[in-house]
Amino acid sequence: MTQPQANIGVVGLAVMGSNLARNLASREGNTVAVFNRSYEKTETLITDHPEAGFIATSTYDEFAAALQKPRTAIIMVQAGRGTDAVIDALTTVFEPGDIIVDGGNALFTDTIRREAAVRATGINFVGAGISGGEEGALNGPSIMPGGSAEAWETLGPILRSIAAVADGEPCVTHVGTDGAGHFVKMIHNGIEYADMQLIAEAYDLLRRVGGLEPAEIAEIFAEWNRGELESYLIEITAEVLKQVDATTGKPLVDVILDQAGAKGTGAWTVQSALDLGVPVSGIAEAVFARSLSSKPAQRLAARDLPGAVDAWEVSDRAAFVEDVRRALYASKIIAYSQGFDAIVAGAEQYDWDIRKGEIAKIWRAGCIIRAQFLNRITEAYADDPELVALVTAPYFADAVAGALPSWRRVVSGAALAGIPTPTFASSLSYYDGLRADRLPAALVQGQRDFFGAHTYERVDREGTFHTLWSGDRSEISAADAH
Ligand code: 6PG
Repeated sequence: MTQPQANIGVVGLAVMGSNLARNLASREGNTVAVFNRSYEKTETLITDHPEAGFIATSTYDEFAAALQKPRTAIIMVQAGRGTDAVIDALTTVFEPGDIIVDGGNALFTDTIRREAAVRATGINFVGAGISGGEEGALNGPSIMPGGSAEAWETLGPILRSIAAVADGEPCVTHVGTDGAGHFVKMIHNGIEYADMQLIAEAYDLLRRVGGLEPAEIAEIFAEWNRGELESYLIEITAEVLKQVDATTGKPLVDVILDQAGAKGTGAWTVQSALDLGVPVSGIAEAVFARSLSSKPAQRLAARDLPGAVDAWEVSDRAAFVEDVRRALYASKIIAYSQGFDAIVAGAEQYDWDIRKGEIAKIWRAGCIIRAQFLNRITEAYADDPELVALVTAPYFADAVAGALPSWRRVVSGAALAGIPTPTFASSLSYYDGLRADRLPAALVQGQRDFFGAHTYERVDREGTFHTLWSGDRSEISAADAH
């Protein structure tokens, strides 16, 4: 029998899997075994890329036989039932100590479940978030692996070899046990939703209020990409806005149907945040903005409802553009701040030791939300590991304070002019809520106590209280009330 030659295998050879396999094969020291449910895809890949030296396999037995021990395989199939089927097949041909990595966008609770089930067989299971799209998979993604420390020992060097590099450091770190990697990838996607929606709102304002054409706005985004907003999403926005439709000669953005799709990771972020009690309001608005866009019947029915009460006349266009830029930056800080709050809450809930500064570091390159200011997040957590809200760190607090007049002008102007800015506006409201001395939550507590005797606490005395709202209206402590 021939000796197994591959140190790593990839299962699932659609575009993400193929690209990741090619990336692995291109790195010194890696030999990659590949497997796909239909052999055709495997054949296409090995024919198109002879330089990769892939070991093609057509059954799970062959695949396992091609791998050196501990066998390590990365599953790159669409998240869901397909993943479970591949895991079942691999666990029958793998042995204790081997490693199965799920590189898809799995829901982290599925990963927790799968990790426990696979671990029971003695095989390691690693849920790894991989960000960067097709191009990232091929040239260097940002990778967020969970799983055991034992698995990380074997996997770490392999993942480090294929990850994107930022300032000389590979964008991969062992995030935490079981579902931690997929949890952090989910939050990454939530922030991605917010970031994209914020950019879209900025574009809408520049177009509808600033009267600028897509090509001009593309220039503005390209310019913004040279400053504190520098990021992949700003960069590609300029590219998208520049694009002209080949058929009509119109800006492509004008012929694309204005109904945004979603594969679910944004909604998962919000659902998890609701469970954890973390206000990720900017992310939630971004998810809902996509939902609203995709409701043609309701939008048609509402089209003639009254709108603006004030036309927004811009006298100084440069100043307006700068206002929008600052509002975008401040809202973006809130999106990241909320995302990191969710990471902290998730880590607490699931007992993961997640190093926030490291997460910001591995998002600096390769991933969709890569941005210059992630270095600032790492610094903020290095200065104060117990930082309770990113927006309160000196750098971010100053940045938001500087942007505040612009932010308020943009949100209030948009409200008067009838232009939707759900993420700008909710981020500002969140900021004002967070910094408020007193919140009307006191009244909500009063209402709850009135109709349901839900009790309240007082600002001046310890204890839990209930008021007898009718009768003599005297207040009694909850202990006495029962
Ligand atoms: C990434 C992306 C990637 C993908 C998502 C979002 O990090 O590489 O987030 O995972 O683009 O599936 O897609 P939707 O916008 O369709 O939810």
